[in-house]
Amino acid sequence: PETWAVLLAAGSGTRLAEATEGRRKQFLPLDGAPLYWRSARTLAALPALRGLVFVFPESELEQREAELREWMQRVPLGLPWQAVPGGKRRQDSVRHGLRALPRECGRVLVHDAARPFASPALILRVLNALEQGASGVVPGLAVTDTIKSVDCAEQVLTTLDRAALRAVQTPQGFDRSVLETAHEQALTHEWDVTDDASMVERLAEQTPHAAPGGVVVVPGEEINMKITTPADLERLRPQQPRQAV
Ligand code: CTP
Ligand code: MG
Repeated sequence: PETWAVLLAAGSGTRLAEATEGRRKQFLPLDGAPLYWRSARTLAALPALRGLVFVFPESELEQREAELREWMQRVPLGLPWQAVPGGKRRQDSVRHGLRALPRECGRVLVHDAARPFASPALILRVLNALEQGASGVVPGLAVTDTIKSVDCAEQVLTTLDRAALRAVQTPQGFDRSVLETAHEQALTHEWDVTDDASMVERLAEQTPHAAPGGVVVVPGEEINMKITTPADLERLRPQQPRQAV
């Protein structure tokens, strides 16, 4: 089966809006190109990848598609691609992206354009775990802070066992039909989630045979952080050589 990637660039970047004067983070410049272009190039360079679906804000779809076409002319990715409009929530954008996948696609990577620094090695770990039969694969890091669960009054309920926690990243990899089923269930039952793997986990709880390979974690990377808050914008600056003191 072919492997395709869905690159999510349809968010509105609310948490950064003030610092960027309303510009959406996925289009901020990184080395002279729009931020999302970095992930597109990294993904496209993997021999296993057969195509890319870009998800852009509906209101800017034509403009962004034209911009993308220009970048493709300068630096051809050598892959079939499509651009589709996103939705209100991240999960809606993923659903729209999944609809654009061709019949031959059997595995899919879902990646946040807001994580421009994912390395080829990380993506290969995800692909290898899929190959070995997982229904879903997520890159994850050990958690270094102690994490507490609280109620709506900030009263601490419990402290979680840090050793058993992982902070997860993208790209997340899936068996395409498992992910599609999970998204159908999410729509029907109004699940509201922040990543795709949690949908597949819920699906597996409900109907174990629907996601026979389960969801596994492979090592993530510190560098693969998500540009989310104003402090993260620092990472987009060209790295200056350190001055000798
Ligand atoms: N995303 C998307 N469609 C949405 C919401 C998010 O495609 N409706 C994408 C974002 O563009 C980003 C990724 O999902 O690449 C992760 O989302 P997040 O970091 O939350 O980005 P935003 O939703 O844009 O930011 P914020 O939550 O601060 O508004
Ligand atoms: Mg968001």
